Amino acid sequence: MTAAMVEAAVAALRARAGAVAPKLCIVTGSGLGAALEAVEVRTRLAAAEIPGFPVSGVQGHAGQVLLGRLKGQDVACLSGRAHAYEGHAPGALALPLRTMRAVGCEAAVLVSTVGSINPEIAPGRLALVADHINITGYSPLIGPNDDAVGPRFPGMAEAYDPQLRATARRAGEAAGLKLAEGVMVHHMGPSFETPAQIRACRLLGGDLVGMSMVPETVIARHCGLKVLGIGAVTNMGTGLGPPPSHDDTLAGARSLARDVGTLLGALMERWAGPC
Ligand code: HPA
Repeated sequence: MTAAMVEAAVAALRARAGAVAPKLCIVTGSGLGAALEAVEVRTRLAAAEIPGFPVSGVQGHAGQVLLGRLKGQDVACLSGRAHAYEGHAPGALALPLRTMRAVGCEAAVLVSTVGSINPEIAPGRLALVADHINITGYSPLIGPNDDAVGPRFPGMAEAYDPQLRATARRAGEAAGLKLAEGVMVHHMGPSFETPAQIRACRLLGGDLVGMSMVPETVIARHCGLKVLGIGAVTNMGTGLGPPPSHDDTLAGARSLARDVGTLLGALMERWAGPC
């Protein structure tokens, strides 16, 4: 069933965009749409136009698929994302990235807003994600596995590709961005964390906390996409600063979108394929 859903989504995409062949997809979340301003868009679709694609109802998450070029690279962008906390079925949540894999993408750059739980990573910075801890007990791979899409038990040893991260580090340096790096703790949301949860996440070895990216990483690795994770640090975790709110997260994301765009551009200039 999953492979059939992917086929239908690919057919809908090709019906609108022709024989697209992006090698890379970029996923951006809350308030980060402006990071994609430099993309020379050839085709723009609403997520709702692609059968099976989940449509987010969250403010700041306008679901769109953009196909075009960024600094000479063919890219597909998923602007705005749906989340498990909205009640989408795991198979629907997985479909956009699986579709990107099926049209030829080899890597996914996942960008999301995050809270910092490391006093050395201040809001207003970008952080590369080196690894993650999923404390939710939820996996987007729950349910029957379609071996045509990926293995039942995908490994997560290098979930965030070390070479892509090294390239991103060089891109950040060249662009004058002081990138942080850390371990992301995944919290399901939609409530923000309690102060005790934030303290626990820090004790567990986390640096960042967020409600997205991690399920996408699992989906991407399952279907063979390499992953670069970029956190836009909008706030300190609950108890470490002013209590976080969605409005403040959106405002923080909007002011970080330009840096994200700069990093994406510098990354594309160095992009030599996923390895
Ligand atoms: N917690 C969870 N997700 C987030 C946060 C946070 O503090 N900030 C931005 N996304």
